[in-house]
Amino acid sequence: MPMKAIVYTSNTGFTAQYARILSEKTGLPAMTLEDARNNLPKGTPIVYMGWLFVGSVKDYRRAAKHFTVKAVCGVGLCDTGSLLPELRKSMKLPDAVPVFTFQSGMNHDKLTGIYQHMIQVLVKVLSQKKRTEDEDKMLALIKAGGSHVSESYTEYFMNWYKNENTTV
Ligand SMILES: Cc1cc2nc3c(=O)[nH]c(=O)nc-3n(C[C@H](O)[C@H](O)[C@H](O)COP(=O)(O)O)c2cc1C
Repeated sequence: MPMKAIVYTSNTGFTAQYARILSEKTGLPAMTLEDARNNLPKGTPIVYMGWLFVGSVKDYRRAAKHFTVKAVCGVGLCDTGSLLPELRKSMKLPDAVPVFTFQSGMNHDKLTGIYQHMIQVLVKVLSQKKRTEDEDKMLALIKAGGSHVSESYTEYFMNWYKNENTTV
């Protein structure tokens, strides 16, 4: 069965932005996980997009409980490339489900509560330790804030999507 919707979870807006881009490119409707749970039947095939949260894609498990997730898009500061095996394991992601990563950024103005606190702690910890190259990059991106949203990050996903739609 072909995919019916782009379903997403966003905290500060970057994932919502990418969901709109994918919606325009695929013609599928984009909706939040809450809206999707209220409006789409259980088992509907979807693309799930969530922001990267401490090495996992936020609310993937909740989405997978309700829907048939055909692909996962993680939106975050870093490319998940080297983290992919751990990410798959921690999320209990089936091998057949592809994962794509879109770089976003850090919106300090919209970050509140526990998430703001967690980032403050992370900056402190990273600033004080001997950092790997990846940690160095992450710290610089967090400190600088702002957006790196770019349509170019959706290219791999779109190639996969077009192929899926012609072979299914
Ligand atoms: C508490 C917290 C933890 C985060 N953990 C990660 C992470 O593990 N990897 C990553 O690349 N980005 C991480 N980020 C960055 C967010 O994924 C990034 O800012 C994302 O764009 C937020 O998406 P949103 O605007 O849709 O909420 C984290 C951000 C917060 C606030």
